[in-house]
Amino acid sequence: ASKKLLLLPGDGIGPEAMAEVRKIIAYMNAELDSEFVLDEGLVGGSAYDAHGAAISEADMAKALAADAVLFGAVGGPKWDRVPYDVRPEAGLLRLRKDMELFANLRPAICYPALADSSSLKKDVVEGLDILIVRELTGGVYFGEPKEIRDLGNGQKRGIDTQVYDTYEIERISGVAFELARTRANKVTSMEKRNVMKSGVLWNEVVTATHKAKYSDVKLEHMLADAGGMQLVRWPKQFDVIVTDNLFGDMLSDIAAMLTGSLGMLPSASLGAPDAKTGSRKALYEPVHGSAPDIAGTGAANPIAMIASFAMCLRYSFNMIAEADRLEAAIAGVLDDGIRTGDIMSEGKIKVGTVEMGDAILAK
Ligand code: NAI
Ligand code: MG
Repeated sequence: ASKKLLLLPGDGIGPEAMAEVRKIIAYMNAELDSEFVLDEGLVGGSAYDAHGAAISEADMAKALAADAVLFGAVGGPKWDRVPYDVRPEAGLLRLRKDMELFANLRPAICYPALADSSSLKKDVVEGLDILIVRELTGGVYFGEPKEIRDLGNGQKRGIDTQVYDTYEIERISGVAFELARTRANKVTSMEKRNVMKSGVLWNEVVTATHKAKYSDVKLEHMLADAGGMQLVRWPKQFDVIVTDNLFGDMLSDIAAMLTGSLGMLPSASLGAPDAKTGSRKALYEPVHGSAPDIAGTGAANPIAMIASFAMCLRYSFNMIAEADRLEAAIAGVLDDGIRTGDIMSEGKIKVGTVEMGDAILAK
């Protein structure tokens, strides 16, 4: 059956990286009968220039109707002074909110060919393959009250509120347990139950969800600060980590740096399964931004965007063999010593965006 993909390349290196994914999709349609139907829209600064909004209503409707959305990157100095509610990031926030993308998946994989260039010791990162599942639509970034209150005595008070309800913890832990079953079958839940009530509830609900539906998966609990330490000390002890919005933001950035460049890191954001069809709304994007410093020079690493598409094959379309093949092609090209500037090291072959995409496609 046809698979509707909406491409939102965005700004800066977003379109450059997306062009390489387009080549892979064209190959899959031509040679593997994959039946991807592509549509394209504007997001971020490019949408602001065209419509005066960070994403138009028409493109929002397309995103809601698509089977999956591939997102490049948004932003750049050109739009640093546009009004707050139409700034480039507002397009991404709107997509996350309207598509109800509550689960953010951030893998940290260390490709064998890059194990030497990590800032950590080779034996700590070699063969690393972990997945952080971060709650994305709740917690302290969204809880009320949220304000700067004038206390009237020359003092102000900044207030953010951490709020989690049972259903939010149930659904994010359900995603983590289900993903663990397709991997090494282990989940580590991280919170701060020692100092936070929301952490106590988080721990209780994850435990109850595990007992009710996922007792075949190994479950472990860890305080989030200790988890940060363990991520750096011996990350291979983890398989899937599930945590809240704030801790997940930080822990996933820490995990990212275990494996090297921003140009290597994919992500997925998933919504709840549709009650009728079982399919989930989903958006796939590289972790990096629009990299204005290298945009237009043809130097961007397209691997993060291509690996995001591999996640799309895996999680939206259950095309496991194709996802494995694409990821193996990325690893193979790295084994061959082919590198973009951001991951370049001595004795390797330096290429640009297009050559890297071509090499992966050839593999
Ligand atoms: P950035 O991720 O765009 O760049 C940080 C550094 O990493 C730069 O030196 C860049 O050249 C390098 N880099 C990033 N991706 C690369 C790739 N694929 N290949 C080679 N090198 C790469 O973050 P920065 O500089 O903080 O932000 C630039 C713009 O991007 C800002 O407008 C920011 O708001 C926006 N941004 C957008 C995001 C998104 O669309 N999801 C996420 C992060 C930032
Ligand atoms: Mg972050």
